[in-house]
Amino acid sequence: MAQLIDGKKISKEIKDELKAEVAELLKQGKTCALAVIQVGDDPASSVYVGNKKKACAYIGIESLSYELPESTTEEELLSLIDKLNKDPKVHGILCQLPLPSHICEDHIIHAISPKKDVDGFHPQNVGNLVIGEKGFVSCTPAGIIELLKRYQIPMDGKHCVVVGRSNIVGKPMSLLMLRENATVTICHSHTQNLKEICREADILIVAIGKPRYIGADYVKDNAVVIDVGIHRNAENKLCGDVIFEEVEPKASYITPVPGGVGPMTIAMLMHNCVEAMKLYS
Ligand code: GUN
Repeated sequence: MAQLIDGKKISKEIKDELKAEVAELLKQGKTCALAVIQVGDDPASSVYVGNKKKACAYIGIESLSYELPESTTEEELLSLIDKLNKDPKVHGILCQLPLPSHICEDHIIHAISPKKDVDGFHPQNVGNLVIGEKGFVSCTPAGIIELLKRYQIPMDGKHCVVVGRSNIVGKPMSLLMLRENATVTICHSHTQNLKEICREADILIVAIGKPRYIGADYVKDNAVVIDVGIHRNAENKLCGDVIFEEVEPKASYITPVPGGVGPMTIAMLMHNCVEAMKLYS
């Protein structure tokens, strides 16, 4: 039976550490404000944005809310970002994705100053990750590394298979695992023999975006299984990319959905905001 990796508990620990750090930094005269932009009213995005603002309030940083209508043009959004880039009182800018289809996400990601890019999506920050230099790192993969470290799960020399190659999760995840000296295989929708490759993983990180896709036959005995997926099933219950009840008896460690990777994304966003506060306020 696997040990559960409790992302909710670790996220709370990190937020408490950050809260204490922010209290000290505020005493030293530093300040921090995160601009949170949402375009349109996608219900899932509203939940995420609400949780991000709540986390800011909890750790003691200011959040500035920009709730823009669905009809907002790319030019209007770029002009807001330009204003926030130039505002010395703003240390982080987060524009919740996805954006409406008439706005090019790449244009927006490129427009946010790399110094305020607490999501770690700007090509300069991605490039820094590739060459092992300092910079903001995408929050979900950074959170997974933090979970593995806090559960003292070794990564050095292990075979890590990452399923998914998105810019937000799969690619940065692979680079972070490489930085930890893992041997990394990246799989994606064109991969042949996916099952066989997954069965070789000491650490299997699943970010394919398909509900309950990975069953016990994809998992080696005693593997560490990290499930990045989050979906609602027919009964409106949350589930991941992994068939939890099948995989759990085989794994040594596993993240549940909900309460695994999800809460870590926000904890690492707060970590990045505090880094921005330390570096630039
Ligand atoms: N949409 C889904 N995940 C994320 C994230 O980490 N940051 C932003 N800005 N949008 C998202």
